[in-house]
Amino acid sequence: MPKSVLFVCLGNICRSPAAEGVMTKLVSDRGLEGQIKVDSAGTMGYHTGKPADPRMRHASEQRGYDLTSKARQVSVRDLSAFDLIVTMDKENYRDVQKLATGRAPHIRMLSDFLDDSWPRDVPDPYYGGAEGFETVLNMLEAACPKIIAELLQGNQKLQ
Ligand code: 4NP
Repeated sequence: MPKSVLFVCLGNICRSPAAEGVMTKLVSDRGLEGQIKVDSAGTMGYHTGKPADPRMRHASEQRGYDLTSKARQVSVRDLSAFDLIVTMDKENYRDVQKLATGRAPHIRMLSDFLDDSWPRDVPDPYYGGAEGFETVLNMLEAACPKIIAELLQGNQKLQ
């Protein structure tokens, strides 16, 4: 059975679609398409159906990532459908935890896969300048190889 990871941010138009794009390319570059499935969602449904923000798409394209996802809201069903759920900041983490009825240690934060030199939250780039989108991509590129390693180790299915 392939392992699955769901990236979650607030709107599902900036950070988590970029996470999906970075991870999808890494999975493809390593020939792991049959072993790891990748998706993204947002805690709010306001942007449902929309493609990723053009600023995030542009910054991603510059680094070779194609963002193709359409926004959707995270659901209770996602909690059992995915082996690992990676939230971008503390607010996303709390909001996804609220969907869980009990213990849900497969809900994590992206910075759990980074050392302490990185910020705890992936900063929301939506209302800021271009550098915010680069920071997001820097954090995602640092964390995604570690997320792959954990998925392949198979020890993240903790429900
Ligand atoms: P994201 O960024 O959570 O990284 O997709 C945001 C996108 C939209 C909004 C906030 C954050 N918004 O308020 O519409």
